[in-house]
Amino acid sequence: MAELKNDRLLRALLKEPVDQTPVWMMRQAGRYLPEYRATRQQAGSFMDLCRNKELACEVTLQPLERYPLDAAILFSDILTIPDAMGLELRFKTGEGPIFDKPVRSMADAKKLFVPDMASDLGYVMDAVSTIRKALDGRVPLIGFSGSPWTLATYMVEGSSSKTYAKIKAMMYDEPATLHHILDVLADSVIAYLNAQIEAGAQAIQIFDTWGGVLTPRDYKAFSLNYMAKIVDGLKRENDGRKVPVILFTKGGGQWLESMAETGCDALGLDWTTDIDEARARVGDKVALQGNMDPSILYASPARIREEVATILEKYGHGTGHVFNLGHGIHPEIDPEHAGAFINAVTELSPKYHK
Ligand code: CP3
Repeated sequence: MAELKNDRLLRALLKEPVDQTPVWMMRQAGRYLPEYRATRQQAGSFMDLCRNKELACEVTLQPLERYPLDAAILFSDILTIPDAMGLELRFKTGEGPIFDKPVRSMADAKKLFVPDMASDLGYVMDAVSTIRKALDGRVPLIGFSGSPWTLATYMVEGSSSKTYAKIKAMMYDEPATLHHILDVLADSVIAYLNAQIEAGAQAIQIFDTWGGVLTPRDYKAFSLNYMAKIVDGLKRENDGRKVPVILFTKGGGQWLESMAETGCDALGLDWTTDIDEARARVGDKVALQGNMDPSILYASPARIREEVATILEKYGHGTGHVFNLGHGIHPEIDPEHAGAFINAVTELSPKYHK
């Protein structure tokens, strides 16, 4: 495998010195890019795009052709696991993901199984190895998965939800059913991420997009505990290099200390926590990734640059910061504004590492 030419991301995640703050964007390969929309149309559906390793590789590399990013992220989706469990995923335009066979009872839950990584999810591993080859050591490749809780919200609701009515009713009335679902998911995520690491993923992010809708007690019991089990079960080194693990709970700012105790290497921060306070709270324990409000990208390039300067100054000197948005980039963003963001990090961050 080609030697890594730019390893800023891995170094910052492990709190080793860097020359500038590494930067990437959640959802960096996506609908805000006209070249993504063209490839997506060529593929047919979103899942066809995920299942085609050449096209998945092409869209993964598209943002890297435009911007001096320090990482690539596998083009796929978190819902590949429940799809492989037979829940029949489809994406309906304007409505997002739908499962035609949601999980609503213990009888449904008992039918769930850990998918076979080679036969059921081999297309994801093929995409990982194809992308690694195409990157040729340019930047590291991030693999990812959803957290068990976040995956379960889609599996129980059957779609995106504003109220989480079905999964919360299950959590309060039938906790054993939900724990069974989460157990199978945690085992699946461990196998899935280890397979991605073996196929060439060099860092891992766990997306806990909906952990923030829980009470502190329920967050620990139904989300964090399962993420901790996953961190414990991951292969943390491959090819002679550490594979850092990032936990991202959107809306999880009040739980950073407990998240850091899982043994992960870094925490993803959304924009509702100040990064200077977060740094003071977690100390040297973990690196931090984030945390610019993605909506700043609607503003002018000058205003975007000012916000980047503010966040760099707040984090302050030294390593341990990976610049990112606090959540995925919105589909309506002007690609030039994304460029202004990335360039600002590249130009303004070196002085914090001298
Ligand atoms: O960051 C990246 O560039 C990597 C690719 C990536 C996608 N989804 C591609 C995608 C990643 C990391 C995800 C994760 C994901 N998927 C999450 C967690 C991340 C987060 O934002 O917190 C969630 C909740 C999902 C489930 C999902 N997939 C939703 C809600 C949607 C949007 C549906 C819609 O119509 O808006 C998707 C589809 C999806 N995943 C798209 C992309 C680029 C858009 C699909 C398209 O091209 O139409």
